[in-house]
Amino acid sequence: MSTKSEQQLHVRNDVELAAQFPRDFLWGAATSAYQIEGATEEDGRGLSIWDRFAATPGKTFRGETGQVAVDHYHRMEKDVELMAELGLGAYRFSISWPRIFPDGTGRVNQGGLDFYSRLVDALLAKNIQPVVTLFHWDLPAALQDQGGWTNRATADAFADYAACVVEHLGDRVSWWITHNEPWCSAYLGHGVGIHAPGIQDAQSAATAAHNILLSHGLAVPRMRALLPPDARIGISLNLFPVYKVDEVPGISERVERELDFRNRWFLDPVFKGHYPSALFSFLHCQPPEVQAGDMELISAPLDFLGINYYNPLRIGMVRLQNGHGGVKHACDVLDMSASAACTAMGWEVYPQGLTDIMSWLRQEYVVPAILITENGSAFEDSLDAKEQVADSRRLHYLREHINAIGRTIQQPDSIPVQGYFAWSLMDNYEWAEGYSKRFGLVYVDYDTQKRIIKDSGRWYASFLTLQNSQQ
Ligand code: NOJ
Repeated sequence: MSTKSEQQLHVRNDVELAAQFPRDFLWGAATSAYQIEGATEEDGRGLSIWDRFAATPGKTFRGETGQVAVDHYHRMEKDVELMAELGLGAYRFSISWPRIFPDGTGRVNQGGLDFYSRLVDALLAKNIQPVVTLFHWDLPAALQDQGGWTNRATADAFADYAACVVEHLGDRVSWWITHNEPWCSAYLGHGVGIHAPGIQDAQSAATAAHNILLSHGLAVPRMRALLPPDARIGISLNLFPVYKVDEVPGISERVERELDFRNRWFLDPVFKGHYPSALFSFLHCQPPEVQAGDMELISAPLDFLGINYYNPLRIGMVRLQNGHGGVKHACDVLDMSASAACTAMGWEVYPQGLTDIMSWLRQEYVVPAILITENGSAFEDSLDAKEQVADSRRLHYLREHINAIGRTIQQPDSIPVQGYFAWSLMDNYEWAEGYSKRFGLVYVDYDTQKRIIKDSGRWYASFLTLQNSQQ
């Protein structure tokens, strides 16, 4: 990846910053069902793999679960008012599959559909575009009992679920995302097991990844058949720019393998119709079983690619255990968590990486359009005496990443970027990290469920006002 991009970003004032974006750009914030809703046993919702995983001792920080989360299920109307107060033009949320199909397939739970229908109506009443993600990791536990994503039949079940949701909301929702970060569902869930369902086996990860991709491929034509022609369908991938820190033998090769593993694993099937050739030996497993026609389905044209960008990866020489009690030196991903420019997740802050990942995409693929479906940062927030949250580092992160997008779209040959979604609207359940990491533009007091707009949220609101006033 190019290194000319190491230059400092030029910080513009907010008026100049706003002026770079087109009139119809979607400005929003994102959340996901299990991270915010709570009410896991209400109105006929079935169990999900995250209910189970989080309830298993030792799997999440202090054993925390999404059972209550930020109680959005009961506070939905007020939360939509909060979005309107922030001036959001769009809101990205996910549907909980086990609320719609408590058993994964078969019986539809009307109570679940009603909740999301009310949410969509509340958003539209405030002029906020709903952007719906169909799968953000909370697979029905009943499907896990039959193998979950390692079972090919789960792909068919997903297509049925997608069609059911589109039938009910497709008259009012124009923006659809099939999967959120399938790399995490496949690899974190099945390869290293730090996410649900907690399996540790590279072969299962490869199989799960293929069935998730297949589920996307099966769902898209079903959704298109039900949606009006101007509806847009995409998939959201977590992507990383990968840089080498010095020139040592083998380092460029190592960068390429990391790009295969982190990015091309999902990008190549979706945009080229095949897996990266060196991926499965890098993962120490066999390629998954690919049946005739799978890749054609998986690579059918999309309307946009969703990018979730948080941080870059840097490859350099590291000391590794050699397995015999000794150490060896090899090229690997560097741990940047000790560096000053890091978030509470230990992730390096590098706005230029967002520009670089978009240039890399343009070189490697034909991507019709991009939505930045997630971008954000966790820092240790606290309420001050005036009940405010002075989160200047998050404000800076947000502004600098928006600036990086502005610079990208000024380039004449850039892929069109159609929207930006801050992660997250409000503090919430950060998976295995429980409630210990706060990403919100809005602070949530977890004892009282009180919402308090942070300085970053206030800045975003003022930026969005500027944005609207100049049009
Ligand atoms: C990506 C995931 O989609 C989201 O659920 C998570 O909270 C954020 N990254 C932050 O880790």
